[in-house]
Amino acid sequence: MSHDQTSGTTLFAPLTAPLTGAISVPGDKSISHRAVLFAAMAEGTSRLSGVLDSQDVRSSIRAVRALGAEASLEEQSDGSLAGAVTGWGGRGPSQPDGPIDCGNSGTTARLLMGVLAPWDVRVELTGDDSLVRRPMRRITAPLMKMGARFEPEGRETLPITVCGSRRLRAIAYDAPMASAQLKTAVLLAGVYAEGTTVLREPSPSRNHTELMLPEFGVDTTAADRAASVTGPSLLKACEVRVPGDPSSAAFIVCAATMRSGSSVRVEGVSLNPARIGFVRTLERMGADVSVRRTGAAGKEPYGVISVRHTQNLHGCEVPAEKIASIVDEVPVLALVAAHARGVTVFREAGELRVKETDRLAAIVEGLGRLGVDAWVEGNDLVVEGQPGLRTPEGVSFDSKGDHRLAMTWALAGLCGTSPVEVENFASVEVSYPRFLLDIERLAR
Ligand code: S3P
Repeated sequence: MSHDQTSGTTLFAPLTAPLTGAISVPGDKSISHRAVLFAAMAEGTSRLSGVLDSQDVRSSIRAVRALGAEASLEEQSDGSLAGAVTGWGGRGPSQPDGPIDCGNSGTTARLLMGVLAPWDVRVELTGDDSLVRRPMRRITAPLMKMGARFEPEGRETLPITVCGSRRLRAIAYDAPMASAQLKTAVLLAGVYAEGTTVLREPSPSRNHTELMLPEFGVDTTAADRAASVTGPSLLKACEVRVPGDPSSAAFIVCAATMRSGSSVRVEGVSLNPARIGFVRTLERMGADVSVRRTGAAGKEPYGVISVRHTQNLHGCEVPAEKIASIVDEVPVLALVAAHARGVTVFREAGELRVKETDRLAAIVEGLGRLGVDAWVEGNDLVVEGQPGLRTPEGVSFDSKGDHRLAMTWALAGLCGTSPVEVENFASVEVSYPRFLLDIERLAR
């Protein structure tokens, strides 16, 4: 690997050794955001450990500090953050001095809307060039039904000012899309509303909020496509241990699947069923991958994912209702599909258009550079695999500032047959700053 500081491109040459051995990946990003935000909302001092140290989670930490929580999270020897967060509890958040910059983090911005809606504050939320293009009305619409206001009214994108109200109404809301960020924003606002707030979704999105809120003492229900909270309630401080991030593990697991001779164990990783759809997808492609539960952190199961290189992968069809369980893994799964025999179809993957960048377009473009046919039909992503795929000489990709694309295209070079260049690889800092170090350690 080499990095050209002047142009911002990184060169990824094929690995000279297979990936072997055991590794633990950094803390789960979704659970880390929730641990920080819920602890900030709570009465008392919560103890957090295993928290992901990445740009996105730092956006949440900065935000809760600006809103009056005390967060003393220190870097640990394993690179995670741990320490105490003392929340604002019944006092509510304080009016910050200026706008809150959520950086690249959609989770920070969207969850904060739900955090702030039940309080008499006016808080402007903004973000980087990518975040200010992402849709927000999906969050503001249900919160307005509950009685919150947003300025400018009806605006789709940040900057948006949350104008909270202490008299929110509980609602029953049918979400138009499966989105854990939307679900969480509504449930968090619902904690302070009188009565039961219910959120129904078209297919199951990740359920970390429903699993964590009861740990903070909130009366919560969780079902297959529905969740509820009963308020008014107050979060009480607790202890949260954050397991490893399956979305980061997916890059190691997919790399080992593609690189001949590899055999890897990822330990201490969340095995929450809503998050390991990528393991199920790889299994259906014929990959040699398995999971073993070894424990639970709170209500979150964790364990080991074992994987070996697989030569004869075949395409598969991922049904629409499973997309939410692989929503962050589709780019790297599409790269694996490019090596498989036959066609892989990801049904109804339109949500990928509104992630950190338009990931559907980026996947089609990037695979095209590898000489692989991939296209979008309606909202379906189709990849025509090429067993024995050889990397063309001199291929160059742009991460477009999207961390998951940066790692996907890095793997195209590391697990391919010729070096590739990735522009803006630095976006990896958003979720998995240690990605290259982990790959290098396993390839030693
Ligand atoms: C997240 C939910 C997902 C995911 C994002 C993190 C969360 O988005 O893509 O990276 O922590 O709730 P959705 O809101 O589309 O489910």
